[in-house]
Amino acid sequence: MSVVMLKDRAEAFESIDGLQEGGFRDAVLRGLALPQKMIPSRFFYDERGSELFEEITRLEVYYPTRSEMEIFDRHGADMGAYLPEARALVEFGSGSSLKIRAMLKAMPQLTHYAPIDISGEILTREAEALSADFRGLKVVPIHADFMSPVELPQELKDIGKLAFFPGSTIGNLEPYEALEFLTRVRETVGTGGHLLIGVDRKKDTETLVRAYDDPQGVTAAFNLNLLTRANRELDANFDLPSFIHEARYNADRGRIEMHLKSLKDQAVSIGDCHFEFTENETIHTENSYKYTPEEFRLLARAARFEPLATWTDTNERFGVYLLRSEG
Ligand code: TRP
Repeated sequence: MSVVMLKDRAEAFESIDGLQEGGFRDAVLRGLALPQKMIPSRFFYDERGSELFEEITRLEVYYPTRSEMEIFDRHGADMGAYLPEARALVEFGSGSSLKIRAMLKAMPQLTHYAPIDISGEILTREAEALSADFRGLKVVPIHADFMSPVELPQELKDIGKLAFFPGSTIGNLEPYEALEFLTRVRETVGTGGHLLIGVDRKKDTETLVRAYDDPQGVTAAFNLNLLTRANRELDANFDLPSFIHEARYNADRGRIEMHLKSLKDQAVSIGDCHFEFTENETIHTENSYKYTPEEFRLLARAARFEPLATWTDTNERFGVYLLRSEG
C-alpha cells in the first residue's frame, strides 16, 4: 500500500471520530433550544456509558438480551439451514460478540466476518479475539458509520452476504429512519442477500417500563451520564441531584421513551449559553420502538425485503426475523 493511501485512510478515520466529538456540543446546544428539549442517544456511549450499557444487558429486568440469546441458541441451526449460500456475515455495529459466536458456530458455511463499527478500538479488539477462536474465518473489519451508506471491500462483493443487526437497535430509530436503514442494508447485501435482525416486541406496559427503569438504577445512571458528560466535555453545570431518569411507554407511538426530568425550576449554562428548565420539564434522550411481528414484516416489505422466517423466545417477548433482499 502506498504512503498516500495510508495517509488518506488515517484522515478518513480521524474525520469519523472528529465528527462524533465536534457533534456533541452542537447537538446539545441545538437540542436544548427545542420546545421539547432533547439530546440524541448516540452520545450515550462514552467510556462510562459503554460500561453502563454492558451492565444493563445483564440486568434481571432487561429481558431483550437474554431473550434474543435464547433464540439464537435454540434456533441457530434452523436459521443456518435457510442460508446455504451465505459466506460473509456483515454485522452492522459490532460489539455483540456472544451473539456472533453463536451464529458462527451454527453456520459453518460462513467464511468471512465483516464487522462495521464507528469505533476503531472495538473493531480491532473483536477482530483479534475472533480470528484467534475461529481458525479459517477471515475477519474484515470495516471502520465506518453504519447509518451512512457503506462501501464493502472488493473481496466481499461477489460472495453471498448475510447482514446481522441484533439487539433491537432498529427500535432506536424513528420508523422512517428504520425504513431508510433497511433499504440501505438491502442494497449492501444485494439481490438474493439476507438480513437477520432482532426486534423487540410489543407487550404489557409494566414489563416494558421495568426493562428501562431497573430497581438497581443502572439505566438511570446510564441516562444521567449524558449530563455528567456534558459537564465534563462542554463546560456545562447540570446539577445532577436535581434531574431524574424517567422511562415511559407511549402506547400511541408504540415506543418506550427515556427522559431526564428536572425536579425544580432552574437554569443551566453550557459555556456561554443559558437554558431554563421548569419543574417537571424533560430532556428526551431516546426512543425504543416495539413492533408486533405483523408490523415488523410490513416495514420489511416496504423496504423490499421478503420475510422468510420469524423466531421468538419461549416467553414471546422478542423477535428474530430472517429477510431476503428482493431488489
Ligand atoms: N436497542 C436496545 C433497546 O432499545 C438497547 C438500548 C439502547 C437500550 N439504548 C438503551 C437499553 C437505553 C436501555 C436503555 O432496548
